[in-house]
Amino acid sequence: MKNIRCKDYETLSKKVANSIIKQITLKPNSVLGLATGSTPIGTYQALIEAYQKGKVDFSQVTVFNLDEYYPISKDNPQSYHHFMMQHFFQHININKDNCYIPNGQAKNIEKECRLYDEAIKQSGGIDLQLLGIGTNGHIGFNEPGRLLHMNTHLTSLKASTIEDNARFFDKIDSVPTKAITMGIGSIMKAKKILLLVSGQKKADIYKKLFEKQLSTDIPVSLLQLHLDVTVMVDQEAYSSEVISDTIVG
Ligand code: F6R
Repeated sequence: MKNIRCKDYETLSKKVANSIIKQITLKPNSVLGLATGSTPIGTYQALIEAYQKGKVDFSQVTVFNLDEYYPISKDNPQSYHHFMMQHFFQHININKDNCYIPNGQAKNIEKECRLYDEAIKQSGGIDLQLLGIGTNGHIGFNEPGRLLHMNTHLTSLKASTIEDNARFFDKIDSVPTKAITMGIGSIMKAKKILLLVSGQKKADIYKKLFEKQLSTDIPVSLLQLHLDVTVMVDQEAYSSEVISDTIVG
């Protein structure tokens, strides 16, 4: 894994945005895997600014988002559909028909998950996957546990995830307890992965990422098996205890 240390969140966000712009410049019809949460917001802002300056064209890009709460409607302000529209899609020239997010109101969940995986396959697969990381090591909503899932599936959120995400809701009881998420297999099939780690509260899990052990209790540790992962970490989350080749960005 390549490890790029950035002096702050703003630098990290700009660098991640630049990597995405480079990807789209090289392949205008790129397929991007995107994340929600607070970490990628700066990246989306930097991409919107680049778009407004004419530096990137999203017209041929396809997006698959990692996850969506369940059950939730698309226009609920807490849904990831709403998040993506508000923070990114409505500000750029992406074709909304090419923006895929699991349907948080699907009646037939198994079918929804199967069709989601098929759509990823039909698109030619994800060229560049953006990931955040949970304080418990989850990626997407692949939570720590004895078993991990290969494909898109319905999952129950861990108490720690519900607590972490409560900051976006009026009260903890309002946080959905389930989500539809891409599986570890879908993530690992991405050609390139950019993992974003920002802030003091991610410092512990960042260290674990480089412990050279694989465990389903730390789902992010499986990324060590992927051949093209770049970890972008800001100073607050960085630890000098980590033994890895680090580029200062
Ligand atoms: C979001 C997602 C999650 C988040 C993670 C970190 O689509 O899949 O894995 O990336 O929970 O969230 P933040 O960035 O809010 O700390």
